[in-house]
Amino acid sequence: MSSDTTGAIAEAAVETVATLCEDRELVVVSNREPYSHHREDGEVVVDRPAGGLTAALDPVMQAVEGTWVAWGDGDADRETVGPDGVVAVPPEDPSYDLRRVWLTDEQVDGYYRGYSNQVLWPLCHLDTAKMTPEPSYWRAYRETNDDFADAVLGATDSDPVVWFQDYHLALAPRRVRDARPDAFLAHFWHIPWPSWDVFHACPQYEQLLDGLLANDLIGFHTDEYCRNFLDCVDAATDARVDRANRSIAHRGRRTFVRSFPLGIDAARQAELSETEAGDDFWASFSEKHGLVGDHRFALGVERLDYTKGIEQRLDALELFWAEHPEWREEFTYLQKSIESRGDIGDYQRLQSRVGDAIDRVNDRFGTDDWTPVVAVTEHLPEAGLAALYREADLALVTPVRDGMNLVAKEFVAAQTADPGVLVLSELAGASEQLGEGSILVHPHDPESVADAIEEALGMSERARRVRIADLQRVVHAEDVYAWLESTFETAAAIERGRRSAPAEPTR
Ligand code: F6P
Repeated sequence: MSSDTTGAIAEAAVETVATLCEDRELVVVSNREPYSHHREDGEVVVDRPAGGLTAALDPVMQAVEGTWVAWGDGDADRETVGPDGVVAVPPEDPSYDLRRVWLTDEQVDGYYRGYSNQVLWPLCHLDTAKMTPEPSYWRAYRETNDDFADAVLGATDSDPVVWFQDYHLALAPRRVRDARPDAFLAHFWHIPWPSWDVFHACPQYEQLLDGLLANDLIGFHTDEYCRNFLDCVDAATDARVDRANRSIAHRGRRTFVRSFPLGIDAARQAELSETEAGDDFWASFSEKHGLVGDHRFALGVERLDYTKGIEQRLDALELFWAEHPEWREEFTYLQKSIESRGDIGDYQRLQSRVGDAIDRVNDRFGTDDWTPVVAVTEHLPEAGLAALYREADLALVTPVRDGMNLVAKEFVAAQTADPGVLVLSELAGASEQLGEGSILVHPHDPESVADAIEEALGMSERARRVRIADLQRVVHAEDVYAWLESTFETAAAIERGRRSAPAEPTR
């Protein structure tokens, strides 16, 4: 698909969004902002959306001229806004408002590092032992959600269409709903939703559910997360849960629960994998790391997070080289880790354990001419990363739990030359869509991962082509624009239904 086609798809998504909003303001709310301002050598510079959801939503926001509410965390953010905290973006052609929410150091500590990333993140990724439910974290989370909600209410006097993003903002919908009963509120939860016995471990389960049930529509990546959410509501509240219809009647309103698997801009990713800049990058990178001739390699790319299964993967690689000495000096593993949440203890400890594990494997098998695991430290420009995806014989995407995993989709879309093989964890949300064309593994079973590496390296070109063609069909058809369209089509249908239906019985 060319970028012209991408343009047409994006336009279709814009039209769907515009249909729902009609003359209403669209307000997107997320923790991270689409544009942030920094000082560099005394000059103010702007960071733009590099990829993913923000990059996909930005043209939509430009077209519908809405408002985006987000935490202003750039060191020059305050210098670039008006008195109400608003800056018009994009800078070169301002068409929508970015309304920044200012957080104190205590709020960042309690709301972002604390409750969001040391309570909700481990909880939803089934790692309750890592939860740190400090009362101060909960207080900061509540207070900051109020601040986000107030920024939404400050953005418009009428009843907006508000779209909340992610686990940082579970309580904000209730405050907006109380002030604007006729607003349309939707929420997309980007991480897994756990089963009730796990969610029950959170002391604030009732308040979180009550906050989320102020939405008209809640989206998850997979059907499994939708079912888990309905189970939690059923067990924890007196709301009426209609499983067939996937809806919940609560406090006089109905909330619909649907799965919308997030996609990528697949056409753009395919184009990126064929650029001259990518080819140039690959030429020098492959030379530097000895990835030349018949040498084969696997790639892992992710934020340095304990959910990504990096340590378990290194164990599996160690087992692979131990059991298959014929692949020593013939096959290399590249690990690109992006440092993340580095001021949280669990993440610091993970960084040092991953470093130790890489040293262990390299000490055991490395030779004067070969380093088995290469920790890629150089900056990878988008085209360079796309070229690495294209050239890799296989991608190892083996999280121990992951809401979706977009790296798997980027790898698939970038297979524009000799196709590589996707080795994918059963526990990634992406396995619901990509299970068929990939080799599925259990991330906690090193044998299954080692066997998958062997299978991928031995797979015929024909078999690889068939698999990648199947995967590419899915990744292109269910891309980020399809995700936007189906979310807003569903929202529009709910809104039409609501206008023609009697009010919900209160319970
Ligand atoms: O998957 C959840 C998520 O919030 C993503 O949207 C984002 O890419 C990632 O985590 C990064 O997290 P943070 O904002 O904490 O750096």
